[in-house]
Parts: sequence; structure tokens; C-alpha cells
Amino acid sequence: MSEKFRSHTKKTTSKQTVAFLTNKWTFIGLLVLLLGIILPASFYLIATVNQETIAKQQAAAKSQLISQAKQSYFQKESAIQVTDEKSYAVDLRDTAIPSNIKEEITSQFQTITKKWNKNSDNFWLSYIHVQSYAPNASKVQAGITHYQWNIRKKAFVQQQQKKIKTIYIQAQTGAPITSQLLLQNNEQNLAVIRTLAQQALLDQASNPKAILDDVLAIPAFTWQTPITYSPKELTVTVAKQGALEETTVHLPYTTQLATALDLSYLDPSLAQSLTPKNEENQKQIALTFDDGPDPNTTPAILDTLKDNNVHATFFQLGSNSERYPTLVKRVADEGHEIGSHTYHHYKLPSYPLATIQKELTDTDKAIYLAIGKLPTLVRPPYGAVNATVAQTAGRPIIQWDVDSRDWASKDAEKTLTQIQQTIIDNGIILMHDIQPSTVTALPKIIHWLKQQGYQLVTINQLLQSQEKAYHEYFSATDERAIS
Ligand code: NI
Repeated sequence: MSEKFRSHTKKTTSKQTVAFLTNKWTFIGLLVLLLGIILPASFYLIATVNQETIAKQQAAAKSQLISQAKQSYFQKESAIQVTDEKSYAVDLRDTAIPSNIKEEITSQFQTITKKWNKNSDNFWLSYIHVQSYAPNASKVQAGITHYQWNIRKKAFVQQQQKKIKTIYIQAQTGAPITSQLLLQNNEQNLAVIRTLAQQALLDQASNPKAILDDVLAIPAFTWQTPITYSPKELTVTVAKQGALEETTVHLPYTTQLATALDLSYLDPSLAQSLTPKNEENQKQIALTFDDGPDPNTTPAILDTLKDNNVHATFFQLGSNSERYPTLVKRVADEGHEIGSHTYHHYKLPSYPLATIQKELTDTDKAIYLAIGKLPTLVRPPYGAVNATVAQTAGRPIIQWDVDSRDWASKDAEKTLTQIQQTIIDNGIILMHDIQPSTVTALPKIIHWLKQQGYQLVTINQLLQSQEKAYHEYFSATDERAIS
């Protein structure tokens, strides 16, 4: 290597070194600047702008969901409070919520939301809605829906929806609708519920005969008996009784159940359908036949009724029903009503409670085994009734106001004459399907009554299904409370 060359090389090398150093530091400096300041700043700026955009999108999505919810839950915006204490929850509330209900539902909401993420990507909407549907009853509906932000869809997507069990409250006070309110604080009405629950238990049993004795032995209901109200039915939980396990039955609102209820807790159209239509001054008569069935006479009575297209009411003895179940079945199958006339035809008020109970229970059992229905009406022998009998029966007591005296005269002509002389509009005629003279008289009696313009009906029709337990009925217009 020549000196010249070397010196040249040296010169070049130092120049390159300077350039290199200059370049390196520029590069590092730029790199540091880029990595340390510009990039984070840019990211920060981008992120901030992005976050603001998302927040705006989220806010818009929220308010859209809120307004949709208002429309679907409440219809009327004016009646709503919107609270937004925390950014992740919006609570829509009807203004008219009783405070006890508000607390109850709020605590249920807290339980539900406990496991949900509380940040801006999570959002839930809850509502409480009170709606009156009967003069005395309102329903409280509440629910909560969880939404999560979906960045791609730029929308809150529904995660889960939970509805709280509808609560029914008294419209004025917000208090729960208890059996005591519904049954007008009248213990007698509990007897009506018990009777209906007994039939329902038998209806839903796979082998009703196996539990029949236990069902009939169910003790009187109390205000502690679980009776739950809903707008469509009562739900009753009957405690274990013998071989019968604790069972829940559902009692839809029928005319029979309605006789025990304060109807202001029911939807007005339902209440109206359960009350009589006040048909104008119809002339009706109910024929009733006691002491049967008897294979020697009852079939002929049934034939005459069928020939004349007339339905009547038979108050049958438990003893005879047990002996002639197929005859009891025929009476029911041909559209007649069957009531209990008790088992032995005792004058009940002279007997101890246990005997009265057994007289009724044994008859219920005999009639149930024959027709699959417990009798819903009771006629105590001789019309002899007192508070104990009425309470034990737990069903309407059916008397009469026209006594054919067929049992005394045993004469067809006299039976007809007696009815003709004592007939009363909308009355109840007492006869006996065990009297051969009544078999002879019946076609003439029906002919004469129709001639007089009477419509012949069953007890239930005459009383327009309004007959009540602890009341006795002598005619459609003569009803007396038994106390
Ligand atoms: Ni009798």
C-alpha cells in the first residue's frame, strides 16, 4: 500500500466515520423520538378519538334501547322514571310502585346482577311496571336485560333476559292479595274452597278411589292454608293427609268458586261472566226428589222426565246410593243434578258432630263412587239444619217452599192438588222418587206446571249458580243465612 493511498484511505475512513456517526445518531434519535414520543402520542390520539367515537356510539345505542323499552313496557312515557345512577345500568320504573314492592324487586335485581361485569361495555336495562286490571287488583311486572357492547356490530347485543315472577297486589294499598282479602275475611268461604279442592284432588289423581277416604277427611281450611291468587285461578296446597301426599291443586274461577270471592279482585269481564244475567221475570220451578234412588220407582220417574225433556234435582241417600250405584249413574247421565240427603236420614241437629260428619262423608263417598263427582248441594233430612250442620256440610243447604206431601198422602191425585194449591213462582217443589203415587202423578204435575207457563229447571239453574254455603234456600227469592 503506497503512502498516498494510505493517506487517502485514512481521509476517507475518517469522513465515513463522521458520516456514519452522524447517520447513527440521527437514526437512533429519530427512533427514540418515534418510539418514545410520536408513536405513543399518535396511538394515544387515535385511541382517544376512537374511545370518544365508541362512547358516542354506545350512548346512541343505549338511548335507542331505552326508548324501545319504554315503548314496549309502558306505552306511556309520562308515567316513567328513568334513573341512571351508574353508567352500566338504567332503571325504568313506573311511578306508581308501592315502596315494599320496590324494595323487594330491587333486591332481586341486585342478586341477578351480582355476577355481571360492571364496565362501560356492559349495560343493563331494568323495568318495573304496575298495571291495574281489576277494581281492586294490579299486577307488577319486572325484568332485567343484560347487553354487551359488540365493537364490530357497533351495537349492544342482548346477553340474557330475566323476568321476575309477576306480583299481584291490592290496587289501593299495594298490599299482597291474601286469601283473607279474597274470601272477604269470611271463614265460611274457606269451606267452599275446601269442597272445590277435594273435587280437584280426586280429578287429578291417577287412582282416586285409593285416596277418597283421605280426601274426604281433609280438615277444615284456615287462613294459614296456602291459597295463592292469580287473575286466572286460585292455587291451593293441601297438606299431607294419610296416604295423600302434600298436593297442589288449581281452581279456575267458576260460578261456584265465585260465590265465595270478592269479585273486585277479578277482571271485570270475568267477574261479569260469573254473576247472574238477571233474566227478566222468568217463571221457573225446580222439581226435587228425595230419599232415592229406588229401583222400583226411580227409573219410571227418570223415564217421565226424559219424555218431557225436563231436568230435576235428586237428593239421594248415601245408603241407597251405595246399594244402587248404577241407578245413581243413570240419574247423573240423564242430566239431572244430584245432591246429598245424608246417609241414614237422621234428624242431624240431634246428633253429635262426629255423626253429622260421618253422615255427610259416607254419602259423599257413595255418590262419588257412583258418578265421579262429589255432591255440591245438601238437603238435610226433614230440612233440619243448624249452624253445626251447615258448617259441616260446607255447601248450600237446599230447602223447599212447596211440599207435595206425597209422603203423607201416598195418593197421586192429592199430590197434584197439593202442588196446584200451594205453588209459588220460582219455588222449589219437594217430592219423593220412592213413592209409587209420585210416579203416577208426575206426568200430570209436569203437564199442569207447563200449562201455567212454568219453566222446569234444576236447583242450580233456579238459583243461577249463586247458591252459597251456610245459606239455605226455600225458593229463588227466599234465601236465609244460617247462623
Ligand atoms: Ni227425606
